[in-house]
Amino acid sequence: MANQVIVGAQWGDEGKGKVVDLLSPRADVVVRFQGGANAGHTLIVDGHKTVLHLVPSGILHPGKTCVIGNGVVVDPWALLEEMAELRSYGLPADPDQLKVSERAHVVLPFHRLLDKAREGLRGGGAIGTTGRGIGPAYEAKAARRGMRFCDLVDPPTLERVLAAGVEEANAVLTRGLGMAPVDGAALLDSLREVAAALAPHVADTGALLDERLRSGARVLFEGAQGTLLDLDHGTYPFVTSSSTAAAAAALGSGVGPRWLDGVLGIAKAYCTRVGSGPFPTEQAGAVGEELRAGGGEYGATTGRPRRCGWLDLPLLRYATRVNGLTSLALTKLDVLSRFPEIPVCTGYRIDGRPVERPPANLALFQRCEPVYEVLPGWLTPLGHARRIEDLPSAARAYLERIERDADAPICMVSVGAERSEVIELWDPFKTA
Ligand code: GDP
Ligand code: IMO
Ligand code: MG
Repeated sequence: MANQVIVGAQWGDEGKGKVVDLLSPRADVVVRFQGGANAGHTLIVDGHKTVLHLVPSGILHPGKTCVIGNGVVVDPWALLEEMAELRSYGLPADPDQLKVSERAHVVLPFHRLLDKAREGLRGGGAIGTTGRGIGPAYEAKAARRGMRFCDLVDPPTLERVLAAGVEEANAVLTRGLGMAPVDGAALLDSLREVAAALAPHVADTGALLDERLRSGARVLFEGAQGTLLDLDHGTYPFVTSSSTAAAAAALGSGVGPRWLDGVLGIAKAYCTRVGSGPFPTEQAGAVGEELRAGGGEYGATTGRPRRCGWLDLPLLRYATRVNGLTSLALTKLDVLSRFPEIPVCTGYRIDGRPVERPPANLALFQRCEPVYEVLPGWLTPLGHARRIEDLPSAARAYLERIERDADAPICMVSVGAERSEVIELWDPFKTA
């Protein structure tokens, strides 16, 4: 399985960044294919923490090409900030290593304003977005009034596309929302500056990937968010504005689906969610607090406390189907060491009747009551484990149960945040 797509199998923050960093030495290229700076991917190496929002998680490995694909919406200021931080600790992220698709759309400051203003209007029904302008940027793309990187770096086009975008945005901001208009001239000056800084990185990344793939290079496709935040398959409307499922890897990087050889889903050993929307196994009380404290469950992008709950196997099975998972990496197993008993959700009921699959209808989904099976805990730390035999038998039984119900074989178990804290059962680049 030469090329692997890495996707979140839950509501994001499953540990995708850690897994991509870990697998990057075995790949030649790492490409982000959707989302934007709403993502926060954490890498911890020898105690040093790096949080990436737009730059692919292969960047810590010299010589690996990192591509921000056409499917990503890129805030150029956020990208420059991230690049400056990487440089501050000796990683050049230079134009040879870091490429941005000329077809990627630009997130503009008024997209952030609109994101926040719309959330305000939703009141109690707010989605709890990251406020990074992601929804409005994808809306502009679909409405055919977005700005792409090829426009950004072409002065006459930049001026024209920006003028149209500002006119539209100002109509909504002033007449619709009663807010102050955007200063188009100041924004143009600022965009000219970021364009100059980023121009050397802008490339036809679809062609670049195709060329590398044809010459036998291995590509890791790095997803952001997670399956239940997918625009089509997630808990709509409490989702993000892009397709997070594995199939998006082809469209969002500009290569055909035949290059997607395997799909590795990342799941936590329990569940978390940031923002609003249904979460059947959520534990609002002491158990939720304990999971949050144990797992350090605070958003890597916004710092918001994550909602926490037990593992939801019907949703994991759903993620296997929607993404076509060929393997599963289970993260944060160490966090469960503090519980003498570990309930896992094995199904749902509505009014006592079993429900096979997560319902599309949100009201019905919200009525789903989880059916739990309580598995024995192990009450011993796992951080030292590097082989499956190092795990207590109760932890192994937990993994076996997940593997059976999720319907995907586990290739990797993460037992701590550090790059080295992992048990690899088999190499996902090789067939299961
Ligand atoms: P991503 O968005 O999927 O890349 O995940 P995040 O980085 O947002 O959140 C995952 C968090 O869990 C980060 O703080 C990681 O450092 C941490 N983490 C990853 N794997 C493990 C693990 O196996 N055990 C523990 N305790 N922490 C982990
Ligand atoms: P990574 O890649 C967790 C959530 C937000 C909100 C919803 C919509 O780190 O796993 P948006 O700003 O995208 O319009 O917000 O999606 N969300 C995430 N939750 N991890 C993420 O990314 C997320 N990106 C967006 O909290 O509920
Ligand atoms: Mg994250």
